[in-house]
Amino acid sequence: MGYWQSTIPAAATIAPATQFDIRVAGWRDFGALATLQKKIVREAEHLAATGKDRKEPLLYALAKAILHRKRVHTIVAEEEGKFVGYITIVFGKFQRVRETAYIVVGVLASHRGRGIGTQLLSRAEDHARDRGMHRVELEVFETNDSAVRLYEKLGYVIEGRRREAVRTDEGYTDIIWMGKLL
Ligand SMILES: CC(C)(COP(=O)(O)OP(=O)(O)OC[C@H]1O[C@@H](n2cnc3c(N)ncnc32)[C@H](O)[C@@H]1OP(=O)(O)O)[C@@H](O)C(=O)NCCC(=O)NCCS
Repeated sequence: MGYWQSTIPAAATIAPATQFDIRVAGWRDFGALATLQKKIVREAEHLAATGKDRKEPLLYALAKAILHRKRVHTIVAEEEGKFVGYITIVFGKFQRVRETAYIVVGVLASHRGRGIGTQLLSRAEDHARDRGMHRVELEVFETNDSAVRLYEKLGYVIEGRRREAVRTDEGYTDIIWMGKLL
């Protein structure tokens, strides 16, 4: 059992609002999580990574996960034993910025609009707060309306822009920085 699982008492699993569980991922989940993330990347429109990008060998991804296991935690949404969404939390490395956590969230297209994203974000904020974080932040394509709307609904504010950082067929679009004080 890796670092991920050992520190969270079983009672931490949130009672499902609908028929899905939210819990912290453990080592046993590594393969299923990698499969979920690949599927979300393949079907999502507004993510930096696309299905066309060079695939990271699984062993390399596992080595990275082991190397960063203390600073990178993942929470998954599970329905009938199948992963349908995840949120990854990356804790700050350097002393002065150590109270900021960076988050990345994704839900399968087939399971959106049911509150899974909302629950993953709320669980990640609790997880970050429990680890002394003062704020959480994320980057989102300005064209990702449903995500920007959801983040604003959950109290995230736009803090900055990476102008024309995304190359599109029509030209360029911005990436927005959003943050929330916990
Ligand atoms: C962004 C994303 C994570 C949102 O996940 P989600 O599970 O659809 O989010 P929710 O269901 O919690 O909220 C979505 C909408 O459903 C509504 N909703 C929330 N709970 C609900 C429920 N129980 N029943 C019905 N609707 C609900 C929300 O209010 C929101 O409404 P809005 O679209 O009018 O703003 C998801 O669209 C996604 O994974 N996209 C692809 C990857 C991506 O872009 N990730 C973000 C990168 S920055």
